[in-house]
Amino acid sequence: MVEPILKWAGGKRQLLDALYARFPESFDRYHEPFVGGGALFFDLEPESGTINDANPRLVSLYERVRDEPDRLVERLESFADPESDPDPTLPYAETTQRGREVESYYYQQRARFNDRPYTGEYDPLEEAALLVYLNRTCYNGLYRENADGGFNVPIGRYADPDWVKRGRIRRASEVLENVEIYNSDFEYVLEAAESGDLVYFDPPYEPMSPTADFTSYSADGFDREDQERLIEAATTLDDRGVSVLISNSGVTYDRYVEAGFHVDTVDATRAINSDGDGRDAVDEVIATNVPESARLDAGQRALSTFDDG
Ligand SMILES: C[S@@+](CC[C@H](N)C(=O)[O-])C[C@H]1O[C@@H](n2cnc3c(N)ncnc32)[C@H](O)[C@@H]1O
Repeated sequence: MVEPILKWAGGKRQLLDALYARFPESFDRYHEPFVGGGALFFDLEPESGTINDANPRLVSLYERVRDEPDRLVERLESFADPESDPDPTLPYAETTQRGREVESYYYQQRARFNDRPYTGEYDPLEEAALLVYLNRTCYNGLYRENADGGFNVPIGRYADPDWVKRGRIRRASEVLENVEIYNSDFEYVLEAAESGDLVYFDPPYEPMSPTADFTSYSADGFDREDQERLIEAATTLDDRGVSVLISNSGVTYDRYVEAGFHVDTVDATRAINSDGDGRDAVDEVIATNVPESARLDAGQRALSTFDDG
């Protein structure tokens, strides 16, 4: 049971029990095509499989965590408090690539993190350290990009932010050694998953209402057509004998039922919501092709039914 390194919108920590309750009794490899912060992946610590995300900087971070955790921790330890003055020995101590005034060390770090989208240059280890640093010191742990791919979340207010997370990075590194890491569209899993495997899809949620926007994880959103592609991919995997779990917003309930999945509504409290302050309880659904009788906890339930009778 490893804690995730990042706070991530749509993080699944509140849903872990509901997800595990729908796991098949056994499976071979584990695949997570929308890994994000990887709440379930890190908690599960699978022995083999794949993870993927469309966000290139997130995927690059996981590669650095896997391959050079100690150097990553060293970089993080060298960073200063977000509210301190910019470091004159580093780039962007006064103005950003785009000529904006740099008010504090946080905004200097943010400008450095944006080298890849704005200048096309970056050092993967430094960028990975900057992603962890910004995630731990930015407003509400949000990840949001502007249309040009620039990370644009303002500084957060923390009494004593801890951006090093030494233990988590070392443990996460061991878990990541077991899996292949992709930076692709989720459909890669159609190549990767074989009969007997388990796939957990946690896509950007379909908005509950026209004003709710849970889809802006990165510059390219996830639209209705993508949601349809996902149902098709899940159906193909089902035909192939792969166990599939999907979480999504309540509005998708009927479509997963129509596609032949077992669907349940679960109450989840969203830790990061669209306007960033409230913590609203919203309906989510979990769809799966794993029949109740074949679930991991089916044995437990059968036993308690027996006791009652
Ligand atoms: C709901 S979040 C996953 C949250 C994750 N389960 C967690 O615990 O943090 C959805 C993720 O899908 C990624 N994404 C968006 N479009 C994608 C696509 N077409 N293929 C793969 N990943 C995509 C986003 O970058 C985001 O990290």
